[in-house]
This record gives sequence, structure tokens and C-alpha cells, in this order.
Amino acid sequence: MSAGVRVGVLVSGRGSNLEALCAAAASPGFPARIALVISNRRDAGALEIAARRGIPAEVIPLGHFGHDERARDLAMRDRLRLAGVQLVVCAGYNRILSDEFLAAFPDAILNVHPSLLPAFGGGMHAVEAALDHGVKISGCTVQLLEPGITDGGPIIVQRAVPVHEDDDPERLRERIHEQEWVAVPEAVRLWCEGRIRREGRVVRIAARPARRTLRLSGRLAHMRALIGVSDKSGLADFARGLHEPGWS
Ligand code: GRF
Repeated sequence: MSAGVRVGVLVSGRGSNLEALCAAAASPGFPARIALVISNRRDAGALEIAARRGIPAEVIPLGHFGHDERARDLAMRDRLRLAGVQLVVCAGYNRILSDEFLAAFPDAILNVHPSLLPAFGGGMHAVEAALDHGVKISGCTVQLLEPGITDGGPIIVQRAVPVHEDDDPERLRERIHEQEWVAVPEAVRLWCEGRIRREGRVVRIAARPARRTLRLSGRLAHMRALIGVSDKSGLADFARGLHEPGWS
């Protein structure tokens, strides 16, 4: 089994971003591996991609939880923790995640959105909205998700796409998709290499991988995920109880 940060991917649709991430993860030296794919829809094409790639995948539909979004999200959270997931990637996941889920993976949930945020955030029709607005440049954004705000989290990667005179939503969406296939693996790489540093809502990208930080933060994140502690002070309390110097 290859090494690397354990990534969980949430999907709802055809899975082209999952495919791009799988391809990147299969390339030598990529610092992540996909540990688990979760779909909220049985008919998601992404599930076939996971099966073809031999990646564990599960369907966790809302219907199993009496349409209680929070209960479903908590089940997903627990499943991701059990799989030792350190980084969650929403790759075309079509539901807004509950704050409790978002808080369970602080600064460790990436989302890809088909517009240059903050323009045209907060909905499922960003491409149509950009065309209706008459923008000349659109694109995609990979951001960190945070409790309390939809599509307003810190931005990690953006890629611009020119809008053509004869574009319709399908044509523009496809060209934006092509940029997402670059942006998502790039953001995952940056996160896993420990190159992302937050200053408030601004993300600074370090020029070089922070190898030691990566190893340490990987172990800490894994441990936090396993024991269900979502912040560093909680982890410190837990670790003090363990008296295990290796984790200090
Ligand atoms: C992408 O365009 C993404 O921006 C949006 O959903 C789409 C998912 O596409 N959130 P795919 O399932 O990865 O092909």
C-alpha cells in the first residue's frame, strides 16, 4: 500500500474530479492516497471510477437517516474517521455539509467550485449565473470549507477560463472542468506537503514542502481524527493523559 496523507473524497456526480485526483495520486511522489470515497447517491458515476481504481467506496444516502442531514453527516464523519482520513475533498458533492461535520476536520476540507469565488458562490448554477451576468472571465476555485459560510472559505487555488462569445453553459462548464482537474490535485498536493499557511482568511503558499511539519501534522491529524478531538488543545489534553512522549 502506498504511503501518503489519507484522503477521503465526497462525491455526488460523474466523478471527473475524482478521476483526476486518482490519476495524480497514482503518480510517483504524490503525497496523498485516496483512502475512501463516499457518495450520497447510488447512481453517481464516481462510484464506478472508485471501483475501477480499487478504492473503497460507500453510499451513505439521506434516506437512510430519515432525511436528517445532520445525522447523515455525522455518520459520514465517523466513517471517515474510522478510515483514518486526514483530508476531506468535496469533489462535486452536491449537499451543504452541516457545521458539525465541518468542525470535525478543521482546515482540512477542500471544496471545488466552478466559478472564481467570491463571484457566483452559494448555489448549484454558478456557470449559468456567470454567463447570465456576462462575465468575460470565469474559472474554478478550490477553497477550505468552514462552518457558517457557504463558498466563502479561504481560497487555495484558482484557475481562470476565458468566456467565449458563443459559449453556452455546457461548453463553458466543460472548459472549467478541465481546469478543475488541474486545480484539485494541485490543492491536495499543497495541503499534503504542508505548504498551506493561513493568515486569517488569506492562505499563503510556501514555496517548498514542509517535510517535518507534514509528518507531524499527518500524525496529529490522524490521531485527532481517530479520537474525535477537533482542535490542538483538545489533543494536548488527550496526549497529556496518555503520557506518550512520542506524540509531543
Ligand atoms: C464540478 O464542476 C465542481 O465544480 C462542482 O461539481 C462538479 C463535479 O463534477 N462542485 P465531477 O463529478 O467531478 O465530474
